[in-house]
Amino acid sequence: MKKKIILITTLILAAACMALIVLVLYGKRDKFEPHAEEIEIDLEAVEKPFKILWLSDLHIAKTGSEVGKGYRKDVKARDGFSQHAADKWDNYWPDFINESGADLVVFGGDMVDFCSRDNLICFRKGLDKLTVPYIYLRCDHDVMPTYISEESFQIAKEFMPELGDDSDLISYEFENFVVVAWNDSAYNMTENGLEKLRNICAEDKPILFMTHVPIASAVDTSLAEKSREIYDGRSLLWGYNDDYYWPEYETRQLLDILFADDSPVVEVFAGHLHFSWDGYLSDRVKEHVFAPALEGSYGIITVK
Ligand SMILES: [Fe+2]
Repeated sequence: MKKKIILITTLILAAACMALIVLVLYGKRDKFEPHAEEIEIDLEAVEKPFKILWLSDLHIAKTGSEVGKGYRKDVKARDGFSQHAADKWDNYWPDFINESGADLVVFGGDMVDFCSRDNLICFRKGLDKLTVPYIYLRCDHDVMPTYISEESFQIAKEFMPELGDDSDLISYEFENFVVVAWNDSAYNMTENGLEKLRNICAEDKPILFMTHVPIASAVDTSLAEKSREIYDGRSLLWGYNDDYYWPEYETRQLLDILFADDSPVVEVFAGHLHFSWDGYLSDRVKEHVFAPALEGSYGIITVK
């Protein structure tokens, strides 16, 4: 009789634990709610409207064989969002993008949670389904080897160019404006990237400037304040006011271009911070920071 009671109690406890796990996982998954952050840009020379889709901070992670033994628990702990993000990438986003009517999609960085071949292959499979042209802007998580061996990291790095243009500055020309993307913007702008940017500026077309890491505003401290509040006192922006990313020569030149009174840049778009912010970079150039795609956020930029 005593044994029977112990068995029944154990079964009830096991069932309660399972229910709790399901509830926790369901709760996390429930956080995914597709929603758009819509931006409109009026340009005189543009007659027919163009639509650009932005997606960043998806953090795809496959808990595959590449994860080192010592890290499996850490990666597993990120399953609530990252494995879920991988499922959403497999089954949701590519069709959504293809049906969106977008003229271009910009993947604004942190599309994978760490730079492993399993993660990049997962991302690539979705890219292969796309019928819309895209720019893939790599940044910190896309290029970080966290959780895997140096050998696996090297294999993944070799695979990176198969995911589209990986040059320092990527651009996409529309008839009357240009989308310019700073690749790997957790590091300073390179000489090559700056030269390419100067050549594009010489074309005298309006520029939509994409970067994963946002730029500190010269006229509004609220973005830096919000970052400090969330990230342990760190302002995770490029800037001169004790911000986390310190601009060296080429980046200073880039900032000079963005802040110039006659800058061809009309708006800057960024991700990285996992919250949404909209405001002014300078008296005339705007900046929008997008919330993360892992929670279902995406941007629609209409240029008209
Ligand atoms: Fe990031």
